[in-house]
Amino acid sequence: MSPARPNSPPTSPMSVPKFVAAKGREKKLTVLTAYDFVFASLFDQAGVDAILVGDSLGMVVQGKSTTMPVTLEQMIYHGEIVARAASRSLVIVDLPFMTYQVSPTQAVENAGRVLKETGAGAIKIEGGVNQAATIRALAEADLPVMAHVGMRPQSIRKLGSMAKVQRDEAALLADARAAEEAGAFGIVLELIPRGIAAKITKELSIPTIGIGAGPDCDGQVLVSYDMLGLTEGFQPKFLKQYGDLRTAAFEATRQYLQEVRDGQYPDASHSHE
Ligand code: KIV
Repeated sequence: MSPARPNSPPTSPMSVPKFVAAKGREKKLTVLTAYDFVFASLFDQAGVDAILVGDSLGMVVQGKSTTMPVTLEQMIYHGEIVARAASRSLVIVDLPFMTYQVSPTQAVENAGRVLKETGAGAIKIEGGVNQAATIRALAEADLPVMAHVGMRPQSIRKLGSMAKVQRDEAALLADARAAEEAGAFGIVLELIPRGIAAKITKELSIPTIGIGAGPDCDGQVLVSYDMLGLTEGFQPKFLKQYGDLRTAAFEATRQYLQEVRDGQYPDASHSHE
């Protein structure tokens, strides 16, 4: 995992302007979620362009059924850990439910706290047309903001299900246009048909980052626990698992339990004379 190895990815830090400039380049942008130091430093050293401290924290780390209970203090706690671990990836922190929806002023105050107290490079909020005034206020305060349209987990009470593909083309295009026009530097497209994602990606001059949005976006984000096969029983169509860490961790744990119970571990080689 040393960044100095031959063929290791570039070590110069990713910034918001560099992230935006990657739009339309041959190489797609890569984004993964992280919530702690171990995974954030691993992804950073592997060369991921951006690390998202997602409010998926509530589901994959805290074991809750939605992202809605996550607090600003929790995002700041995890955001600071991840930002400290990342020496070259752009760190983006989600503003959680009801920390920006009340007013643009509330959003600016809370986004300012996040950037100030975590050292992250940007924040993300969910919404397009409905959050245009807030995106504008954040951008005007020089707080780099990524938008998130399509399936918006914080709006689960209104949308009904997290698994529902969002298909209203006119509304999705309007959301994407509004986010760009208001000053978002990038936009997550979650769970929308690939044709609509391709249309949005072609029209916008900011990078689109897909999750369940097909292959034509400027980049891709996955929840790292899903990508690594750590989460149990979550297998939506869009997800590709690149590892089976849950099985590996389970088997290692079973072996440890057995060796301790049988008196095989610790042995002489693991003991001090
Ligand atoms: O919270 C999160 O992890 C996200 C990604 C799924 C884009 O918003």
